[in-house]
Amino acid sequence: MSQRDDRMGTGAGGTAQVVVRRATEGDVAAILDLLTEYDQPRSYFAPWYEADPSYRPEQSWVVAEDGALAAHVRLYERTLLVSGAPMRTAGVGNVITVKHARGRGYASRVMRAALDAATAAGHAYSLLWTHLPDLYARYGFGPVPEEAVTATADPDTGAGGTRVRAAVADDLPAVLALRCLRNADRSGPSILDLELFQAARQWLGDEILVAEEHLAEQHVAEQPQQRPRAQTGEPGGQQAPAAGALTGYVRYRPGTERVEILELGVDPRDAETGRALLAAAARPTQGRLRAVLPRTLRPLLDPWSASDTSTTGLMGRPLSAPALANALSHVWPARLARAGWQQARVPLAMADRGVTLRVTDAAVTAEPTLPESSPMPHPAEPSAAAPEDTRPLTGEQLSCLLLRGHDAATARLVADRRDRDVLAALCPEQDFVIWPAEQF
Ligand SMILES: CC(C)(COP(=O)(O)OP(=O)(O)OC[C@H]1O[C@@H](n2cnc3c(N)ncnc32)[C@H](O)[C@@H]1OP(=O)(O)O)[C@@H](O)C(=O)NCCC(=O)NCCS
Repeated sequence: MSQRDDRMGTGAGGTAQVVVRRATEGDVAAILDLLTEYDQPRSYFAPWYEADPSYRPEQSWVVAEDGALAAHVRLYERTLLVSGAPMRTAGVGNVITVKHARGRGYASRVMRAALDAATAAGHAYSLLWTHLPDLYARYGFGPVPEEAVTATADPDTGAGGTRVRAAVADDLPAVLALRCLRNADRSGPSILDLELFQAARQWLGDEILVAEEHLAEQHVAEQPQQRPRAQTGEPGGQQAPAAGALTGYVRYRPGTERVEILELGVDPRDAETGRALLAAAARPTQGRLRAVLPRTLRPLLDPWSASDTSTTGLMGRPLSAPALANALSHVWPARLARAGWQQARVPLAMADRGVTLRVTDAAVTAEPTLPESSPMPHPAEPSAAAPEDTRPLTGEQLSCLLLRGHDAATARLVADRRDRDVLAALCPEQDFVIWPAEQF
C-alpha cells in the first residue's frame, strides 16, 4: 500500500499528522460523511458505494489529518471502447476536501497518489467530468467536447406503428445484448456486465422503455408508473410478455422539467423506432428531454425544436503508456497499413516524461521519446515512414483523437502539426458517446 506520512502546518497555528493512503473497508462510512460536503444528503452517494459491485474501498484514496478523513478521490475502474477495442480506464470522481481543510494541498496530493496508482496498475487512460476544468488541467487532463442537447419532442411522434412498453426484469439481458450490439463499433461506451448494468439502476433512478417487433394489442408509451419498474435481480419480478425481438430501448431518468436520456439503443437507420422511444420517454414532461447522443443518432432530434446545447465537462488524459500502446495495437496497425505506411511515431506528453508510440503494421509499442537534438532513426524504407512531428500531443489532443477521432473539432486542434494526416489516418472520426448512464 502506498502511504505517505508527514507533519504539516494546518494554517491554524499547529501541525497535524497527514497521511495519504488508500481507503479500507472501515473508511467507507466516513467517506460517505465527507461526500455530504457536496451539499447532497448521505443517501445520494450511498448507492454508488454500497450497491456498486465494482467498488472496492481501495479504489478510494484519502487524506487523513490526525486520523480524521479530510479529502477523498475515487477511481472508477472501467473498460472503455475505443474504436470498438477495449481500453482499461480509471475514471476520477467524488473529489472532495472537507471545508475547513481546503487550500492545504490535500486534493492535489490525493489526486496525484490516485493517478500514480492507476498508472502503476496498468490503466491506459483516465477521464472525469467537472465544472472546474482549470483544477484538472494541472494534472494533465484536457477537455473533450461532448455535447448535451435539450430538445422538445413533437407530441405526435410515435403515433405510427412503433410499439413501446415499459421494460420488465426479464427484458434486461436482451436490453444489455442490444446495448452491446449497438455500441460495438463506437468510442466511449463502457463494457458492462449484467450485474453492473442492473446495480446502476439504484443510483441512476432510471426507467427503461423497450420497442419490439410485433407487440400485439399494446399502444405506444404505456407509462412506467402503470407497471412496476423492472427491478433487476428482484425475485418475483414481472414476466415479460411473449413478444418479438427488441428493436430498441431507451433508459432515462424522469424529472420535473424534462427527462434525462441516459442511454438509447437503436439502429441509427431506424429513425421511427428511435423517435418513438425518445418521445415516449419524454411524454410526462410534455416532450422536453436532455440527451447526449453519438453522431449517428443525432438526426433523431432533427424534427424537434432544440433549445440549448451545452458541453458536459468531460476531460481525459493518458496514464500508462504501455497499456495505451497495447489497447491501440487492436486498431492502429491495420489503419496504418491501409494508409500505405510501414511505420509511424506519435509523441505524447505523459505526466513526468515524453513517450513516443511507435506504430508498425503489427503492433504499437511505447518508447521513451528521444531528446529533440537526436535525430529520429530512419526506417529501412524512408518512403514508407509516415511524416513525423516531434512536439508531444497534449492530453486534450490525444483525448479528442482517441474518443472523437479526427472530426472537425479535433482537426482544429492538430491543424498545425506536420503529422496531422497520420493522426487522421490512425484516428478517423468516431461515433463517439459516453452515455450519461455511465457518468460518475
Ligand atoms: C475543489 C476542491 C476539491 C479543492 O480541494 P483543496 O484540497 O482545497 O485543493 P488544493 O489545496 O489541493 O489545491 C490544489 C490546487 O488547486 C487549486 N484549486 C483549488 N480549488 C480550485 C478551484 N475551485 N478551481 C481551480 N483551481 C482550484 C488551488 O489553488 C491549488 O493551486 P496551487 O497548487 O497552485 O496553489 C475543494 O475545494 C472541494 O472539495 N470543493 C467542493 C467539491 C468540488 O467541487 N469537487 C470537485 C468536483 S469536480
